[in-house]
Amino acid sequence: MADGVFGLTKDLERETAGVWAKVKDHVTPLEWPEQARLISEINRLKRERDAVILAHNYMTPEIFHGVGDYVGDSLGLAKEAARSDARVIVQAGVHFMAETSKILSPEKTVLIPDLRAGCSLASSITGADVRLIKQRYPGLPVITYVNTTAEVKAETDICCTSANAVQVVEWAAKEWGVDRVILIPDEFLARNVAAQTTVGIIAWKGHCEVHKRFTAQDIADMRDAWPDAEVLAHPECPEEILAASDFAGSTAAMTDYVEQRRPRRVVLITECSMASNIKGDVPGVDFVGPCNLCPHMKRITLQNIHDCLVNLQFEVTVPEEMIARGRLAVQRMIDLPSPAVPARYDIVKARHHVDVELI
Ligand code: 13P
Ligand code: SF4
Repeated sequence: MADGVFGLTKDLERETAGVWAKVKDHVTPLEWPEQARLISEINRLKRERDAVILAHNYMTPEIFHGVGDYVGDSLGLAKEAARSDARVIVQAGVHFMAETSKILSPEKTVLIPDLRAGCSLASSITGADVRLIKQRYPGLPVITYVNTTAEVKAETDICCTSANAVQVVEWAAKEWGVDRVILIPDEFLARNVAAQTTVGIIAWKGHCEVHKRFTAQDIADMRDAWPDAEVLAHPECPEEILAASDFAGSTAAMTDYVEQRRPRRVVLITECSMASNIKGDVPGVDFVGPCNLCPHMKRITLQNIHDCLVNLQFEVTVPEEMIARGRLAVQRMIDLPSPAVPARYDIVKARHHVDVELI
């Protein structure tokens, strides 16, 4: 076979041309031959292993566009894990996401390419902490963000993600017949939800190490530099960030916003790979702004996804008893109807008084 551009064979060049078109602003021609080879090999191994790759929106573009069978936000990945009939799930994301997949599909082999891919929110709280909170607030429903360990989910009444947190809080208050709920462990998500509902919120002081770094001054500086840019923020950011933004929502809600409204210029206040990934699908939109990377998400690479499929490593397991209890909480969330709008944080200008009790 004759060699093509970048030292690829013609066949490999043809096979990966569509991916190259989407990643070429982020991958150098020098890196591409090795990445194209890995993408092709991974896609072959997936068929051989009967595996599916669930890739979060924060994966790098070559993973997102090259090998992800399903790409999306935490809610979308959880739903897909429950739906998929593949024998093996490879979680191109962080450890709590792999545990969620295992909870929903205990009969499947769930693999994560690097076991060290953690999360500052998930490690901010333990099952023992949640048991103490329940003792302190008996009778109140416990809602935990999906960014928690299986041990914490096992102590939970219902999970939520940033895509449905307001809906889950209002559902739980009604179902339990109470006017306050426990929403843990993300303090900022809790504050941002509290601004959208009259239900009282008891929160925990956990934070996402990526989103808490943004400041209102960052937004002011960006508005000075690019006055025509629309600013979209993730609800794991502090409240003042959302108040200064034009829209806020989960990573999937941000994607929908950009795909549907096609702003001329946009700033995404979230993990940096999001902009690189969407950019491949919406040519003509100018993405500007800061770049904060999640060190945990960035542990996942094409090379370790490849090794994961070759050696069927590293398997994520969850004790059976934890699966049974955690599943109830995750399944309750999945069974709620999808919100009519992807996120309700877009009404940030009409905020209620924020009343959050911090534990
Ligand atoms: P979503 O994709 O659900 O918005 O979550 C963002 C995140 O930080 C996941 O770790
Ligand atoms: Fe956790 Fe934040 Fe990284 Fe998401 S971006 S995995 S919430 S540390």
